[in-house]
Amino acid sequence: MREYAQIFQGTAFTSKSPKEVEILNDYLFCINSKGMIEKIVAPEDTVFQDLLDVYQGKENFHRLAEGQYFLPGFVDLHVHAPQWAQSGTALDIPLYDWLNTYTFPLESKFSDLAFAKNVYEDVVSTLLANGTTTALYFATVHKEASLLLAEICAEKGQRGLVGKVVMDDPEQNPTFYRDADTQTALADTEEFILAVKELAKSTKQGVYPVVTPRFIPSCTEEGLKGLGELAAKYDTYVQSHCSESDWAHSYVQERLQKNDAFALNDFGLLRDKSVMAHCNFLDEDDADLFAETGTAVAHCPISNAYFANSVIPIAHLHSKGVEIGLGSDISGGFSPSLFDNARQAVMSSRMLEDGVNPTLPAEERGVPASRITINEAFYFATAGGGESLSLPIGRLAESYAWDVQIIDTKIVSAKLPIFNEHEDVNDVFQKIMYLVRPENIREVWIQGDKVHSRS
Ligand code: GUN
Ligand code: FE
Repeated sequence: MREYAQIFQGTAFTSKSPKEVEILNDYLFCINSKGMIEKIVAPEDTVFQDLLDVYQGKENFHRLAEGQYFLPGFVDLHVHAPQWAQSGTALDIPLYDWLNTYTFPLESKFSDLAFAKNVYEDVVSTLLANGTTTALYFATVHKEASLLLAEICAEKGQRGLVGKVVMDDPEQNPTFYRDADTQTALADTEEFILAVKELAKSTKQGVYPVVTPRFIPSCTEEGLKGLGELAAKYDTYVQSHCSESDWAHSYVQERLQKNDAFALNDFGLLRDKSVMAHCNFLDEDDADLFAETGTAVAHCPISNAYFANSVIPIAHLHSKGVEIGLGSDISGGFSPSLFDNARQAVMSSRMLEDGVNPTLPAEERGVPASRITINEAFYFATAGGGESLSLPIGRLAESYAWDVQIIDTKIVSAKLPIFNEHEDVNDVFQKIMYLVRPENIREVWIQGDKVHSRS
């Protein structure tokens, strides 16, 4: 019999397809020394009992208690780590004012490494406690503090993809918060990429550098072009904001006479490893371009409710072959939880389909075929995020990383309403998706290592 580093036994939920959730009832998950799922064994499989005979009772055998379930860890495709310090505040003003009045002054404080350490340690721990095992982070323009965020991810065991933000246009950014000039922005980005690649060698789960122009309005054309070249040279991830609000969208149209999707592509910034946040205003050609280049959309439903002045037609984009994952967009979105964002994704899609103007006749109100189910929201939060990043994460399947959250439905302070011992497991899944709170997330594992537990 093969030797495994660890074996876990219990019932798991994982996406089979965007619309279907697979229930693995009381399976064994055999994990190798690299933290990957090497074998999944069903109870009716002949080796099931053999494995139990060998491993049961050993330290590396973990059996879930009654009422506990495995979910894949969440993949948050869009988090502004420094903005955690202002989460939940200042959401009543438009994006442009919000950036200038609150966000840039806050982010400028991350030149102070002691302040950065405080916030970054807390945001990484908070995301872990909310079941997020992989996060695609915007840091700030500061190279050192951005590297500190990657180091904190490495140390806490989170799979962090981190970008030093580029804001090199002296005309568009405040003097107190921007890159010194374009050449410095590019040189800092290159040094940052090399430093994170070096750091990654000492981690099991991986940390990754991300080329990060904040959005077209903060960057010069020379800067954007240089960043595209760096992404190609080092084959890195790329992240930015695309077509987020009426304001951002029309700003790019006026400046470059094209939609920002095409502008980003012309600068070499739409690649298979690109993730663009929001994308509320993609038109049909933009969406085709995303599908062709393999660029993914980070769908940020809570944030969009505040800044977009619209609802993104996520079902339509997905049907056109665009890869989609979920993003919290802390702090444009107030919640660090992808459970909360999955719930909002479903609710927003229902509002788009069913319409929100009750003065119109029912048949004229909404956009047909817009709704998504909670199964699809779960897919976006897990497997969809993994596919967007081209990493073997987000599914409980062989050859995927053992990134899981152990959900306890019986925690006294946050008990789920399960009154029937023989409750249909699919109903349990839906209750988990709609009702779980951080208290229910008993343990979180990344790449075979326990990174969070709540006793
Ligand atoms: N566009 C440019 N910067 C930001 C940001 O920090 N948050 C959001 N939501 N949109 C942006
Ligand atoms: Fe954002």
